[in-house]
Amino acid sequence: MHRILVTGGAGFIGSNFARYQLKHHADREVVVLDKLTYAGNLDNLRDLESDRRFAFQQGDICDPAAVRAAAAGADAIVNFAAETHVDRSLLDPSAFVMTDVHGVNVLLEAVRELGVARFVQISTDEVYGQVAAGSSKETDRYAPRNPYSATKAAAELMVHAHHESYGVPALITRGSNTFGPFHYPEKMIPLFITNALDDEPLPVYGDGKQVRDWLFVEDHCAGIDFVLEHGLDGEVYNVGGGNERENLGVTRLILGLVGKPESLLRHVEDRAGHDRRYSLDCGKLHRLGWQPARRFEDALAETVQWYRANEWWWRKIKSGAFAEYYQRQYGDRKVLEDTAGD
Ligand code: NAD
Ligand code: TYD
Repeated sequence: MHRILVTGGAGFIGSNFARYQLKHHADREVVVLDKLTYAGNLDNLRDLESDRRFAFQQGDICDPAAVRAAAAGADAIVNFAAETHVDRSLLDPSAFVMTDVHGVNVLLEAVRELGVARFVQISTDEVYGQVAAGSSKETDRYAPRNPYSATKAAAELMVHAHHESYGVPALITRGSNTFGPFHYPEKMIPLFITNALDDEPLPVYGDGKQVRDWLFVEDHCAGIDFVLEHGLDGEVYNVGGGNERENLGVTRLILGLVGKPESLLRHVEDRAGHDRRYSLDCGKLHRLGWQPARRFEDALAETVQWYRANEWWWRKIKSGAFAEYYQRQYGDRKVLEDTAGD
């Protein structure tokens, strides 16, 4: 594989993946196609601009002409482009249907017409919905419970349909909650780190006992790269970190790493339909030869250090349209006085 089109490559994981490709594959060319929504940011790719193997094109995955132009000559497409924040999907699901479902269909049609040899759809453990006990296997049923996860599940069904109906060489990775450098500060870990650095409250939804499996972004990129090279068409692969943690525990770790008091922790009104727990069984990918390399606590400390050292990156974001979103999302949110077991 020589030339890879990374759609959504100006976002968090996509930009890390573009960097990973150029670093680990000397003969690889990377083209990023990205609409540059609120979450897309050319600052995420700044250090790659001088690499002659790298090119950026601004465009929408829902636009067939833009997709065909960017995909010409590509050996593979890896699709990260999506609306990605559960809270925003609760405020307005329609953008999620457009990009996360229709956009994926446009990409699949281009793959078929242009004869691209491989298509990897980046999906999420959230398509399984919440799991009370045990861990989700690739063969488990879909049970998404919010608009974001519903559109990601719908996208997967389109991928399967194109594979079964037209033989499109497509596969799917389902990653768990990812964190690390260039993570947009609407998501819990970067929001809490940057709020703590500014002595602002950390808004923990409900009792904070929800469980997520955390995966360092470099490990997620390595897992996707492994599937790109070794995965089989039509297959699905869970890519998890094996680090299940309660939100409350992660919040306390962040406060400790930033060196701020627990009095900044605020329990606030819960997210609607908040999934209680995600858990991935990654045995399938482990057996093929991939494992995450990083310990959660070490990777979190490194991430806190990155946000300390890169205020130029996140202060610009937090001072723009983000402030308006933050007010809408948290401004009138009820603070819970009495949270059991805290
Ligand atoms: P992100 O929100 O940081 O980035 C999304 C990128 O997609 C942005 O650069 C945005 O400009 C671009 N984009 C949005 N709509 C587009 C369109 N119509 N055309 C072209 N580009 C468009 O998201 P992320 O956290 O990097 O997630 C990337 C992918 O990984 C998503 O598909 C997401 O569902 C999946 N995923 C994320 C996580 C996580 O924890 N962040 C976990 C598992 C899977
Ligand atoms: P998030 O980073 O939004 O990822 P996802 O919803 O895709 O899992 O949230 C991670 C967890 O943190 C989730 O259980 C919701 C919770 N959370 C809070 O408690 N407070 C917040 O302000 C945010 C953004 C998330």
